[in-house]
Amino acid sequence: MNKILKIIGLKKVYHDLNSEIEAIKDITFDVNENEFISIVGPSGCGKSSFLSILAEIEDKSAGEIVFNKKKIKIGYMLQKDSLFPWRTILENCLIGLEIENKLTEENKEKVIHLLEKYGLKDFINKYPSSLSGGMRQRVALIRTLAINPDILLLDEPLSALDYQTRLALSDDLARIIKEEGKTAIMVTHDLGELEFYKPKYKINKKIR
Ligand SMILES: Nc1ncnc2c1ncn2[C@@H]1O[C@H](COP(=O)(O)OP(=O)(O)O)[C@@H](O)[C@H]1O
Ligand SMILES: [Mg+2]
Repeated sequence: MNKILKIIGLKKVYHDLNSEIEAIKDITFDVNENEFISIVGPSGCGKSSFLSILAEIEDKSAGEIVFNKKKIKIGYMLQKDSLFPWRTILENCLIGLEIENKLTEENKEKVIHLLEKYGLKDFINKYPSSLSGGMRQRVALIRTLAINPDILLLDEPLSALDYQTRLALSDDLARIIKEEGKTAIMVTHDLGELEFYKPKYKINKKIR
């Protein structure tokens, strides 16, 4: 099994003027390629800090993060979809490619294909306001996939949604990630959210 990532003794302490908060004490584990890992814990236990450090948005205080290659591409999906309201669904999904200066016709076609494949064909040229919360999160996932990341980080991707939508979308997200053959780390405070994945996609096991 190919290891994509090793996390060794990771620690994060936040400081302010008169106190310090130990957000991450000591995390060590490996991530294999095509694995879907879920980390569950209550609010404030350091989940978002952990993902932000992996995405290099935050610095770590101690420990090591070792990727299996030099240039690893990370896709980071947040709790709120953060789609730009003034851009169409397609334009939203092309942002990553624009930033990377890789917006070729071929890459654009791939993104259109992803949108079509995952039930958003009729919305490609619509604006986010015309989509339900669940569909917007699906778009957010496709936007994250559009840059073809090596690893996906999902920060409570379902928690802003109502129960019914969450139920439907959790299946969708797991299926899309599996079908696209991605490695993913999802954090959540909601054990229930996790249960939806369990029976079909065996957490912490190779899923392809
Ligand atoms: N930028 C920051 N500055 C200071 N403290 C922070 C910062 N970000 C998070 N924290 C603190 O670190 C702890 C973990 O936060 P967080 O990683 O957001 O937890 P979770 O995502 O599990 O809810 C919390 O006590 C939080 O208040
Ligand atoms: Mg959080």
